[in-house]
Amino acid sequence: MKQFIQDLPKVELHLHIEGTLEPELMFELAARNNITIPFESFEDVRDAYNFHNLQSFLDIYYQGANVLITEQDFFDLTWAYLLRCKNDNVVHTEIFFDPQTHTERGISFDTVVNGIERALSKAVSELNITSQLIMCFLRHLDEESAFTTLEQALQHKDKIIAVGLDSSENGNPAGKFERVFKRALNEGFLTVAHAGEEGPASSIRDALDLLQITRIDHGVRCSDDEAFVQELARKKTPLTVCPLSNIKLKVFEEMSEHNIVELLRKGVCVTINSDDPAYFGGYMTDNFMAVSDAHNMTKAEIAQFTFNAIDASFISALEKKRLFAINEAYLTLHHS
Ligand code: HPA
Ligand code: ZN
Repeated sequence: MKQFIQDLPKVELHLHIEGTLEPELMFELAARNNITIPFESFEDVRDAYNFHNLQSFLDIYYQGANVLITEQDFFDLTWAYLLRCKNDNVVHTEIFFDPQTHTERGISFDTVVNGIERALSKAVSELNITSQLIMCFLRHLDEESAFTTLEQALQHKDKIIAVGLDSSENGNPAGKFERVFKRALNEGFLTVAHAGEEGPASSIRDALDLLQITRIDHGVRCSDDEAFVQELARKKTPLTVCPLSNIKLKVFEEMSEHNIVELLRKGVCVTINSDDPAYFGGYMTDNFMAVSDAHNMTKAEIAQFTFNAIDASFISALEKKRLFAINEAYLTLHHS
């Protein structure tokens, strides 16, 4: 099964580039940029990654991002992630970045987006990996800051396909960003949002209704409302689920209690993603393996996660068809 999962051509739809900062690169960038970090060793860092909820993770995640200063730093960060993609046979990835985490520290929007973009372009020719970029607004900041960020993104419309919403869900309802998302839609951006990670099923409904999103990031709390689960299945609304993240942040106690397989079997368009792999203990293959180890799944069911991700991705219909065909051939070859 490990080999089947490793070699399965995968599509990732929920990945925060700042969440791919491995301790080794954190130390390297801290030294390069003369920045003090509150850790003595890699072990120190890994010991600190003991989270009890979303906020306890976010505090450490924003602190880690302080070592990212130059365009080269953002390039190096993104390139390291893309090499992981190559290793896991991720053939297409849709990446979030959090501009406000950096602009609030005086790093320019252009530095961030140009560094990331340079690595993504290089990956097309050198690694045969395609990608899209999604700009997230931090929901703990105010509407005005989000509007300023959207304004900055307008000059980079050619590089950014969609806007998203992340950070602290509790206390920051989707409605706070209704006007920003309307403006983004008018400017031609697609929209996604984190919802139903810690917040209730109603917060997923709010995100769908108020922000007109085309897919939900996380969304696992939909299970609190069975009628809603049926509705999501019927409407084929995609959920970008992050299994290892959900365990690390205590959304579920154990992987055997995770609802992703149940949702898959109910016909919901669920996908597997790594969220912040440097913080949660694994990239794509690790996430697939963790689900497969804890649940009794067939290869066809595992491949369905990837068919769902192709469907839910922001690539062209022609490209979707091409990836479907590749995956179908792979599944046929390795079915038994
Ligand atoms: N949830 C909310 N905000 C985030 C996450 C997440 O899983 N990862 C990075 N920012
Ligand atoms: Zn996320």
